[in-house]
Amino acid sequence: MPFTEPATTLPAPSRVATRRRLLMCRPQHYDVTYSINPWMHPEHRTDTALALRQWERLRDLYLDLGHLVEEIDPVGGLPDMVFAANGATVVDGKVYGARFRHAQRTAEGPAYLDWFERRGYREVLWPEFINEGEGDILTVGRRLLAGTGFRTDPRSHAEAQEFFGLPVTSLTLVDPEFYHLDTALAVLSDDEVMYYPAAFSEGSRSVLRTLFPRAILATAEDAAVFGLNAFSDGRHVLLPEAATGLRAQLSARGFEPIGVDLSELLKAGGSVKCCTLELRDR
Ligand code: ARG
Repeated sequence: MPFTEPATTLPAPSRVATRRRLLMCRPQHYDVTYSINPWMHPEHRTDTALALRQWERLRDLYLDLGHLVEEIDPVGGLPDMVFAANGATVVDGKVYGARFRHAQRTAEGPAYLDWFERRGYREVLWPEFINEGEGDILTVGRRLLAGTGFRTDPRSHAEAQEFFGLPVTSLTLVDPEFYHLDTALAVLSDDEVMYYPAAFSEGSRSVLRTLFPRAILATAEDAAVFGLNAFSDGRHVLLPEAATGLRAQLSARGFEPIGVDLSELLKAGGSVKCCTLELRDR
């Protein structure tokens, strides 16, 4: 035969994990006592003991993968404090504090900032504008993607750009079920993401296509089980185990998906990424 058959699929790239430093908050006071997103139903029962076991399993997975996990003390009366991603945004060792949209979570901003100050972080900014930390501000290489529409004030995007000195791209969320950017988009590597297009405005979808033409796109089913609320170390991707479609797509791209069950925390509208704040040091 004169010609060889062209390969139908490209070989999956070999993925390299890098060790991360993470901040987590034990769900000791976890409960659903108010509703600030469509997932929260205070009339349904929550099982704090089960939430603790599920959370410990996630923490242990990070440790088994070689990551470093720091813990901030949970504060009574702040049931959502387990969602450490919302506590701040940390890039190059600089800490951009969080200012929450809802009164029920206001006290978490200073609680997290206090942890950073006591840990010796010097460049710490108490923000002028509402922003819910890494819930809405995600780092992709040397660029930040910043969500708005439900929680974070778009004026904070410019504030973050000035503070970090890194380009910030604003993205508008339009579906209340995906109220934070990290519920609709996950960063996989320094230049790869996966996302659920229907969660974004038309203009933002076009921006995402321009920046990430080869992104993994999630189905409505995978998005609905919070499959995009994922954490990647460049090789291992921890995500809700029910997101079977995304797990297959990640494997096809050479990642190693690891399914995690955080069903109790999903009752507050959170999962893997929400529980995880990355401490990006200089
Ligand atoms: N109940 C919390 C809220 O509505 C959940 C926060 C989830 N965190 C996240 N990073 N998406 O604010």
